[in-house]
Amino acid sequence: MNLRAPLLLVLCAPFASACFQKLDDSASRDFDPNAAVEAPDGGGSGAPFPVNLTTPEIGKTAADNGDVTATSPTACDKVTSDAHDIRQRVCSGCHEGAGAQGAPLTFILEDNMIINGKSTSAANAGKTYIVPGDPDNSLIYRRAAIIQDMPPGSTDVRNAATSLSISDFSILRDWILMCTGGASQTSGAVTTGAGGGSGTTTSGAAGASGTTGTAGTSGAAGAGGASGSDAGGTSGTTTGAGGAGGSGVARDNTRFNFEAGRQGWAAVTGTGLGTFTNVATSGAQIFAGTRALAGTIASTAAADYFLEVQNPTALTAGATVTFHVFIPTTGLDFVQPYVVDAANVFTGSFFMNPTTGAWATLTVVIPANAGAITRLGVQFHTATATFNGTVYVDSVDY
Ligand code: HEC
Repeated sequence: MNLRAPLLLVLCAPFASACFQKLDDSASRDFDPNAAVEAPDGGGSGAPFPVNLTTPEIGKTAADNGDVTATSPTACDKVTSDAHDIRQRVCSGCHEGAGAQGAPLTFILEDNMIINGKSTSAANAGKTYIVPGDPDNSLIYRRAAIIQDMPPGSTDVRNAATSLSISDFSILRDWILMCTGGASQTSGAVTTGAGGGSGTTTSGAAGASGTTGTAGTSGAAGAGGASGSDAGGTSGTTTGAGGAGGSGVARDNTRFNFEAGRQGWAAVTGTGLGTFTNVATSGAQIFAGTRALAGTIASTAAADYFLEVQNPTALTAGATVTFHVFIPTTGLDFVQPYVVDAANVFTGSFFMNPTTGAWATLTVVIPANAGAITRLGVQFHTATATFNGTVYVDSVDY
């Protein structure tokens, strides 16, 4: 660079006027772009040429022969026509007509068959040849412009008949993008169905309570309640709650339970003995089951009253006999369960001032040397005070 300035001075020195010559500005001021350019005498470049400064109307295109007056109604008409021509020129030899070697794609010129048409070949089954608006997913465009293995073999653009140019890619792309119906396609309306109403479910009514068990010997639980009815028709039936337990008292399974009668028991009568006004079974007081033996006393002085059974069976020496006795009120100074054997030996157990108003459990043990038992009973002794009442014996067992 350092040498340039001195060199310019050396070159200009002899012709100073030429290096600083004034430009002729009238040349640009009078320039008419439509005017023919005069060729200088003696030939040279610069032949007259037409210059069109007006913009062509949209849709006006040049025909292949360069005639700018040829027009297409819409831009797509031209693009569609060009895209068809490209396929005709490069692809149809192998992809058009029955028996074409590019089968199953044998209709590459039939727009209505390739647009949205799907391949049936093993390699590409289900892929769409032309997806409107989506060249990259259109099988034909992919093979031709992206993978570029169609047409096979030649990619030499100098052989226009058997190869595709960049311009061809562009036309195919524009055609698929804008002229195959994709852009104008409207989305289908999607109507969402209303959800179904929830089903009504009515619970079944609860079952009625079971009937109360009958008081009595069994005292069994009441029967189960009836099943609830199912009003809703869909829910399961509801089983009623079991009935309340029966209020009956325990069954009396003792040897002398007086459930069905006096079982041979009676008042002992004799000189000096008190006399019961009545001896019978009764339900007024019961130790177990539903009946007991009742003896009614109306005394005004001290006396002995005996309730007994003769020759009780299966009662052996050494056994313990259990009695249950109910004394309603005071007035008895003792009660005494007893046995008498065949030798007339009396064995008893005194209970002084017996419990009143409740059942008392009394026992007597048969002596080991006792003979056969001939009498079994309970003695009631009234004190001097007046006693009016009914005594009860129940559940005598051994
Ligand atoms: C020289 C014959 C030949 C030419 C020309 C040709 N193809 Fe093919 N083409 C085939 C053959 C053979 C197949 C089947 C084998 C394959 O898929 O590679 C095929 C397959 C195809 C397929 C896959 C079809 C399918 O359903 O699986 C497409 C798409 C395709 N060609 C597009 C084109 C396009 C677009 C052109 C023009 C730009 C073209 N081909 C030019 C021979 C040709």
